[in-house]
Amino acid sequence: SYGVCKGGAGENLFVDAATLQEQIDELSAYSDTPAPTVTRILYTPNDVAARRFVKKLMSEAGLSVREDAIGNIFGRWEGTDPTLPAVGSGSHTDAIPYAGKYDGVLGVLGAIHAVQALQRVKFQPKRSIDVIMFTSEEPTRFGFGCLGSRAMAKSGKIFDILREAKDSNNVTFADAAKEAGYTDVEEKLKSSGLEKGAYSAFVELHIEQGPMLEKEGIPIGVVTAIAAPASLKVGFKGDGGHAGALLMRYRNDAGLAGAELALAVEEHVLASGSVDTVGTTGVLEIHPGAVNSVPREARLEIDIRDIDEARRDKVVEGIRASAEAIAKKRNVILTNFDIVNQDPPALSGGQIVEAAEQAADSLGLEYKLMISRAYHDSLFMARISPMGMIFIPCYKGYSHRPDEFSSVEDMAKGVQVLALTLLQLSST
Ligand code: GLV
Ligand code: MN
Ligand code: MN
Ligand code: MN
Repeated sequence: SYGVCKGGAGENLFVDAATLQEQIDELSAYSDTPAPTVTRILYTPNDVAARRFVKKLMSEAGLSVREDAIGNIFGRWEGTDPTLPAVGSGSHTDAIPYAGKYDGVLGVLGAIHAVQALQRVKFQPKRSIDVIMFTSEEPTRFGFGCLGSRAMAKSGKIFDILREAKDSNNVTFADAAKEAGYTDVEEKLKSSGLEKGAYSAFVELHIEQGPMLEKEGIPIGVVTAIAAPASLKVGFKGDGGHAGALLMRYRNDAGLAGAELALAVEEHVLASGSVDTVGTTGVLEIHPGAVNSVPREARLEIDIRDIDEARRDKVVEGIRASAEAIAKKRNVILTNFDIVNQDPPALSGGQIVEAAEQAADSLGLEYKLMISRAYHDSLFMARISPMGMIFIPCYKGYSHRPDEFSSVEDMAKGVQVLALTLLQLSST
């Protein structure tokens, strides 16, 4: 059966992947949009239901469950030396609008299954193992992602940002959290921060969200680095006017300024000369948005990523220069050029990469070293702990869409590799 692997340290390591699949299916029903889409936004009733489900599974696996002030959830398997820093493993269960059911979820439920596989072979960890469900890896509600892991790593001005954050309905982060049962968040925020060294290692299992593993027929990716993400909010303002009466030479069309900037984004990205530089204008809104009205305002949201931070920053500065030049040329006002986040990349810890490689080897599974172009909570955990990630193939590389899919066989292999990686990291 797909749950059992022969040979080496992986012998007899049974992963109950059929149950894992059932749990993933069950969790996917907690959604604001109909199946097969999954939409689970921070602190909404479905997010709360997902949290309850995860805590129940953790308890059933014999883990002791704790939650911090903002709802990061920890399920601890106590080691024989609980005074040592623990090993962490986890991911997120929130889902962007109209997404699929594997992104993040595999890394949370899969970590519980990895622990259960180790319990079945009567393994006793020396270091405690924490399964972690992070609060809001996705940026949907408050505009920037990895809230839980940023808070744990006390990244930048995260506590000030969370104190001021409001969603699109003007609900504050603290009020949203209260709806989900997390009270007095403003006063307690800082308690969600951890010290560097709180974990001796952190490992995240995730679907690849890209096509390489499937294309090459390789079951396991071992991540060596996570690309550096940045996102921008840009606004232009012109005078607008009547689409018939206002002659072309008297216009200062904010919509065209926005369109020109979107093209400039592509130009700056391509000019980097590296396939690793990517840029997306994912939001381009014009106001008032009427066919017979010259656009008075344009609002853009731009995502720029690169494995090379300096090269990414050069693109960001190029976009800023273009925004200023376009505003000048078109006689519109550049109302804002806000850098929402501009995070460094992260390198995996050598010891974790090695542990994952050895785990794959001992299971007789081929693996590939690769970078993660998507970001993950591991990007921030890297600031307080050596970090590593294990990828499994997903259908055509699809992710952030409802037809996201990984097979139960591939999930079983990923969980086995995670289990043996945790075994090794928690033993020393
Ligand atoms: C988050 O899911 C991202 O990588 O955009
Ligand atoms: Mn995602
Ligand atoms: Mn994810
Ligand atoms: Mn992500």
